[in-house]
Amino acid sequence: MSNTLRLGIAGLGTVGIGVIKIVQEHASLLEARAGRSVSISAVSARSKAKDRGVDLSGYAWEDDPVALAKREDIDVFIELIGGDSGPAKAAVEAALAAGKHVVTANKAMLALHGQELALAAETADVNLRFEAAVAGGIPIIKTLTESLAANKITRVMGVMNGTCNYILTRMESAALPYETVFEEANQLGYLEADPNLDVGGIDAAHKLVLLSSIAFGTQVNFTGAELEGIGQITIEDIDHARDMGFRIKLLGVAQMTDAGLEQSMRPSLVPATSPLAQLDGGTNMVVVEGDAVEQIVLRGAGAGEGPTASAVMGDVMDIARGLKLPVFGQPAATLKPAKPAKASNEAAFCLRLNLKDVPGVMAQISTALANAGVSIDRMRQFSHNDVSAPVMIVTHPTKRSHVETAFQEIAQLNVTTETPLMLSIVDA
Ligand code: HSE
Repeated sequence: MSNTLRLGIAGLGTVGIGVIKIVQEHASLLEARAGRSVSISAVSARSKAKDRGVDLSGYAWEDDPVALAKREDIDVFIELIGGDSGPAKAAVEAALAAGKHVVTANKAMLALHGQELALAAETADVNLRFEAAVAGGIPIIKTLTESLAANKITRVMGVMNGTCNYILTRMESAALPYETVFEEANQLGYLEADPNLDVGGIDAAHKLVLLSSIAFGTQVNFTGAELEGIGQITIEDIDHARDMGFRIKLLGVAQMTDAGLEQSMRPSLVPATSPLAQLDGGTNMVVVEGDAVEQIVLRGAGAGEGPTASAVMGDVMDIARGLKLPVFGQPAATLKPAKPAKASNEAAFCLRLNLKDVPGVMAQISTALANAGVSIDRMRQFSHNDVSAPVMIVTHPTKRSHVETAFQEIAQLNVTTETPLMLSIVDA
């Protein structure tokens, strides 16, 4: 092996170009810090002819990423193609089989196939690293696998989809409805090709399940995650929540309980004074709680050329320095199968109801809640001009299943004008 660390980059979109710029512009800095030079041998993308604004003339070109992955003149295969299977997975498998280290930003692929790829990497005795897959430029994988490696992690939480955070905070600051801001995000190029990956919470859940695998020593398990998107959140919900001292975030929470591994990605209320509530626009925040470290909060850009390329190159630099770590923080063969569990801990909930404005309705709602053992902490009816009265109820801590039972009874009462919404209040 040459002393230079030689890279092959598959996928020349925003992040791939960012990686090339860093390698070209910071060559001496990389060499000084890694103790060896880092160079690009070959690249691959769909169109060779496209002008990408960087000089690619010094690099070999491969049309086929699998061919790139197997080249003799690369040590590290950087996968920036995307997609949970298809060419990305085929190329990563080929690279691992050929004994190449792999660096990827592909959260979907790892969320669905992480265990098998980790076993393949560790069998081949190479690195499979994925800092760029979770929360863009925030070094959360390194933090969990290295800096906090001696902690028993009790909870991981975060806002890990910048597009959703942009939509929710822009709805609030500009007093615009969801549909208008969604279109604005589309025009700005924020949305994934399939927007449901963003607004349906799927992209953020892919990231959360990677973190929970490291945090709790379990095999990555996406199918067990509970998912709810932001499409049903209205400007009134946001305003009313603020009025009650909360902000609404698409919040991921992962924790291990006696019942099993809880992983949820849902619109949730956080206290307006909490660090998560301060997060505006496309920024991400990850909160980790460990028995020794207590709570740490990491905040930064969750996407974009520079931040994501920075994360890719952080992994490349560790490989250049000779660092080798298990993919999910402990040998993949020792990761336990996850036992998915529904959120079982008691929490306060905020209930949004639109009620028929006729005598006795509130009494029926209170009775339905009482019948299910749900106690009301606070409630407010907001001003309205028509026959539907918007009401927000904050419960005392209770189980989600109890609120669901109350909602079933409420559905039979014929007193609501819309399906009620329940948002958990996360003690963040
Ligand atoms: N669609 C993602 C987001 C991009 O909005 O955060 C980074 O994964």
